Amino acid sequence: MVDVILGLQWGDEGKGKIVDFFAPKYDVIARFQGGPNAGHTLYVKGEKVVLHQIPSGIFHKGIINLIGNGVVLDPVTLKKECEKVAAMGVNVKENLFIAQRTNLIIPTHRALDKAAELAKGDEKIGSTLKGIGPAYMDKTGRNALRVGDLLDPGFKNLYNKLRTKHQQLLDNYQFTEDISAWEQEFFEAIEFLKQLNIVNGEYFINQKIAEGKKVLAEGAQGSMLDVDFGTFPFVTSSNTISAGVSTGLGIPPNKIGEVIGITKAYCTRVGSGPFPTELFDATGDELRKIGNEFGATTGRPRRCGWIDLVALKFACMINGVTQIVMTKADVLDSFPDLKVCTSYNVEGKETDEIPFGISQLKIDPVYKAFKGWSKPVTDCKNWADFPEQMHLYLNFINQYLGVEVKYVSNGPGREQIIFQ
Ligand code: GDP
Ligand code: IMO
Ligand code: MG
Repeated sequence: MVDVILGLQWGDEGKGKIVDFFAPKYDVIARFQGGPNAGHTLYVKGEKVVLHQIPSGIFHKGIINLIGNGVVLDPVTLKKECEKVAAMGVNVKENLFIAQRTNLIIPTHRALDKAAELAKGDEKIGSTLKGIGPAYMDKTGRNALRVGDLLDPGFKNLYNKLRTKHQQLLDNYQFTEDISAWEQEFFEAIEFLKQLNIVNGEYFINQKIAEGKKVLAEGAQGSMLDVDFGTFPFVTSSNTISAGVSTGLGIPPNKIGEVIGITKAYCTRVGSGPFPTELFDATGDELRKIGNEFGATTGRPRRCGWIDLVALKFACMINGVTQIVMTKADVLDSFPDLKVCTSYNVEGKETDEIPFGISQLKIDPVYKAFKGWSKPVTDCKNWADFPEQMHLYLNFINQYLGVEVKYVSNGPGREQIIFQ
C-alpha cells in the first residue's frame, strides 16, 4: 500500500518534518515530483538540515529513499546533499535509489529559468531559479536527458545537442552570463551520480509493494502551486497533487491509501501570485517573525496571512485528503484575535469556490473571527491539554473541510507533534 504526504497550501507547510516523523512506519519514502526548488527542513539530533532533492526519510536506518521519475534532478545539488548527509552518518550507497527515468536539470536550464524570469519583468513568477520550468518543458517537449542516459557512452553528445538548442534560446533572450563554471560542476557531479543506485523505478517500487512493503510518497511544493489546479500561471511546473504520485512513481491509483494533507495553522506564500488572505500589516509581520517565515531554499521572506479555508477545501477535494496535519499551531500562541477565511468576495459576488481567474480578479476574503488561545501550546503533551479556544478553532476547521485535523505540530522538533 502507498500513503501520501503532501502540502495543501503554497508550499513550506512542514512536509519535511512530518515525513521524518512518519518515516519509521514505512519501508520506502519516495519523492514523486518537483526538484531542488523544494526545501524540506528536518531536525536531526538537534541539528537543522534542509533537503532539496533527497527524500526526508534518509536519516532512518533501513528505510529505502527513492527519487522517482516525476522528479527533476540537479546532479550538483544532489552531490552536495549526499556529502552533507554522509557527514551525518548516512550511507547513501545503501539507502538512496534513483529512478532511471528521472529527468536531469542541466546548467542551461538554470540559465533559461533566469533569462525567462528577467524577460517577464513585473510579471515574473518568482521562480526559485533552479531550472525547474525549463527542465519540465524539455520533458514534455520530449528533449530531456534522463538519469538512465548518463550510462550511455554517447552522453556527452546528447548533452551537447541539447545545450546547442538551449544556446539558441539563450541568445534570443540576450543572456550572456558565463556558465562554464556551472558546467564543470555538473560534469563532476554526474560522475558522482553514476556511482549511486540507479534503478528501474517503476519495477523497483511495484516489487516492494508486491512484497507487502509500505511506501510513503512525499510531495514537494503545495497543491495551490500545482501546474493544473494552482494559481496559474504563478505555479510550479509539476503536478503536486496526489494524482502526481501515479505518474511520478509508476504506481497504479488503486494502490494509494491514506492521503495526509498538511496545512499550517495560518498561510504563507513565497514568490509572486494571488494570495487572498495575505496580511500587509503588523499582524503579517508578526506571523513572519514568530513563524520564522523565510524560504528554506532561497531565504526570501515569505508572505503571511490567515488560514484560507476556501483554498484548503479545494485542496482536500482534488487530493482526496483523508486526514490533516496542522503545523505551526504554536506560532499563533500570542495572537489575541485570529481569523479564518470562509469565502471570497469576488468583485461583489460571494463564493466558496476557487475562481478560474484567481490571478486576475480582485478578491476580498470574508472572515470568521476567533479569540486567540494566548497560551504556549508547545508545552502541551496531549490533545486534551490544548486550550479551549484552540479546540474551537480546530473544530470549526474540521467541520468546514469535512476532513479531520488528526495531528497538530507544536514546534519544529521531530517529537513536537500531538495526535487525537
Ligand atoms: P516544507 O517545505 O513543507 O518541508 O517546509 P519548510 O521546511 O520549507 O518550512 C517549514 C518550517 O517550519 C521549517 O523551518 C520547520 O522547521 C518549521 N516547522 C515545522 N513544523 C513546525 C511547528 O509545528 N512549529 C514551528 N514553530 N515550526 C515548525
Ligand atoms: P517546498 O517543497 C514554497 C514557488 C516559487 C515560485 C513558484 C515557481 O519547500 O514546499 P519554481 O522554482 O518551481 O519555478 O517556482 O513556486 N515554489 C515554492 N514555494 N515552497 C516550495 O517548495 C516551492 N517550490 C517552488 O517561490 O513562486
Ligand atoms: Mg520548503
